[in-house]
Amino acid sequence: MKVREILVTSALPYANGYIHLGHLVEYIQTDIWARAMKAQGHQVTYVCADDAHGTAIMLKAEANGVTPEEQIASVKASHEADFDKFLINFDNYHTTHSEENQHFSELIYRRLNNAGHISTKDVEQLFDPEKQLFLADRFVKGTCPECDAPDQYGDNCEVCGTTYDATDLKEPHSTLSDATPVLKTSKHYFFDLPGFEQFLKDWTRSDNRLQVSVANKLQEWFDAGLTSWDISRDAPYFGFQIPDTPSDEPDKYFYVWLDAPVGYMASFKNLCDKRAGTENALDFDRYWAQENEHKTEVYHFIGKDIVYFHALFWPAMLAGSEFRTPTGVFAHGFLMVNGEKMSKSRGTFIKAETYAKHLHPEYLRYYFASKLSDKVEDINLDLEDFMQKVNSDLVGKVVNIASRSAGFLVKKYDGMLTEVCAEPRLLEDITKTGDEIAVAYENREFSRAMRLIMQCADKANEYIDEKKPWSLTKQEGTEQEVQDVCSVAINIFRQLMVYLAPVLPELTANAKEFLNVDDLSFASRNEWLLGHKINKFKPLMQRIEEKDIAAMVEDSKASLAQADASADTTSQVIETDASTEQADYQVDYIGIEDFAKVEMKVAHVLECNYVEGADKLLQFTLDVGEDKPRNVFSGIRKFYEPEQLTGKKVICVTNLAPRKMKFGVSEGMVLSTGNPKTQLTVVTLPDSCVIGDVLA
Ligand code: MSP
Ligand code: ZN
Repeated sequence: MKVREILVTSALPYANGYIHLGHLVEYIQTDIWARAMKAQGHQVTYVCADDAHGTAIMLKAEANGVTPEEQIASVKASHEADFDKFLINFDNYHTTHSEENQHFSELIYRRLNNAGHISTKDVEQLFDPEKQLFLADRFVKGTCPECDAPDQYGDNCEVCGTTYDATDLKEPHSTLSDATPVLKTSKHYFFDLPGFEQFLKDWTRSDNRLQVSVANKLQEWFDAGLTSWDISRDAPYFGFQIPDTPSDEPDKYFYVWLDAPVGYMASFKNLCDKRAGTENALDFDRYWAQENEHKTEVYHFIGKDIVYFHALFWPAMLAGSEFRTPTGVFAHGFLMVNGEKMSKSRGTFIKAETYAKHLHPEYLRYYFASKLSDKVEDINLDLEDFMQKVNSDLVGKVVNIASRSAGFLVKKYDGMLTEVCAEPRLLEDITKTGDEIAVAYENREFSRAMRLIMQCADKANEYIDEKKPWSLTKQEGTEQEVQDVCSVAINIFRQLMVYLAPVLPELTANAKEFLNVDDLSFASRNEWLLGHKINKFKPLMQRIEEKDIAAMVEDSKASLAQADASADTTSQVIETDASTEQADYQVDYIGIEDFAKVEMKVAHVLECNYVEGADKLLQFTLDVGEDKPRNVFSGIRKFYEPEQLTGKKVICVTNLAPRKMKFGVSEGMVLSTGNPKTQLTVVTLPDSCVIGDVLA
């Protein structure tokens, strides 16, 4: 077998917040993959780091009365403690606020600049005159220019859904100081992403680098047209200064997303330095130099919200600065809890730390494994199902195999397994399934791997149930058979431990002791334990109790209520510095269940009228086949006269929560296409459509 040299990363968590169960989807997914590839004999290096730069971190430090360096140091320690608890086995955990990262960020920037990929342009932006800083959209609030709803953010209105520029807000104020922002111009540095269009089109479509749905999403972005990327921020900013800027101009800083992915390289370099001269020494250039691209493999595991950064900016930056590009970028979906977005008030916004106080981290590792696939689908942690599944699969099926056979062996046969296997066909069958399991792990089809493993466990339990060693022991002359059956069971259990080791490293380490073996690598499943002595069995896993889950949910409510109570003006800032830009790039897949939640019906426009005092709205009276007509407002006044729509059949979303507006309650939404700023066209249906019929 060829030993592959693989570098794998998870996205770098922001240094301004704690790790929660959503993050853990990714770290657990990557960790399982890295462990599985190691177990198959490959040389795998798994690195990560804290993403330490940006406005949000700077403001958070200020609010806490500490320096940004102190702030990021304490967060890093807490992140590392959380990752340890969840058995995330990084080979290195670094920070983007490091020498190595500064070195590579500057190097990449200089190479891009020398090759003509950097340009400058003046940008006009809202500026907080009190705080003396430029305001990202999320730091500005004001009155919606469309519907006059007060207290809306600078990018879109949560009441009427309109998107606009922060400069369009009426009565804007800074959320940081309450001051009225002013317009101010400054010079920004841009990376020429459009110059890489052809390269990126080829890159995304070749060598299976990306999942199909991600490649399709990129196609949409190509179709919409790539634009240059603003990579600079003005002082004050916590980050690296951009080198080689004119000395008579104000200092500029790299936008956090420029140096964040470089953090992958920097963490790896830091590890190379630590290991230099040891037998595990790693050669940086072997993994990152362009000419070595085919000797080693580099994979990034990320969430779907940061695809744009990893599948466009990052490969373009690397190619433009003569480094190798990643072999693959693997995106996963978001975590739902009990079928909904994590919610602080329902206690389903669960910190890693809070979970670990109440429940064993391996339960979650197994549950996520049983849900994860190679798709970009959201995954649902249903707490009831979580308990059932862990109890029935791990405790009821897997551990049970050992607990029901080890006792007899230790008591009656001094722990000795038979010299000859009584059921070679069964064992061979399970050994063979191992090939499929290995492939499923490598392809990130963990749910398939878990299903295959449970099928093996089922076979073992069926075998034991059929042979009934517990009743055999009560009969005369069955000593050999009892030892045979129990030895087969223990051998299968050992194979299951091999298969589950990437998911359950602690349980399998304990099982290793009990089995008295020192190897659980994938290859070890081929060696059967014959004439081998096992140790006394100790319970390997407890059942999950309903009360532990309830306590965790209560604890989550309490700990977040506390955090909210002590919230300052920066709490809303958490994770927004980059996510304001991310939001536009979301690969927002929804499952069919989510789509099915939206109820759309054929509606007949009984009346359509102007709304006094609202120059953007039209008011509809719609027959949607119910006892009473509905009242619906729509922001299309600029594009239609009421009589153009009266009598038409349109599509109404009928289960949208009623929204109270200045002019009355809107009881639905009329669908239209286009852009609210330029042209909207109401979708009309043929007359033959039946009023009240559901669209699907
Ligand atoms: N700092 C950036 C990543 C920079 S990588 C060069 C960032 N940080 S994050 O803390 O917001 O998220 C870290 C990872 O966790 C991302 O891949 C993100 O998609 C993932 N998740 C964060 N919340 C999540 C869920 N609720 N569900 C699943 N994954 C989630 O983005
Ligand atoms: Zn509005």
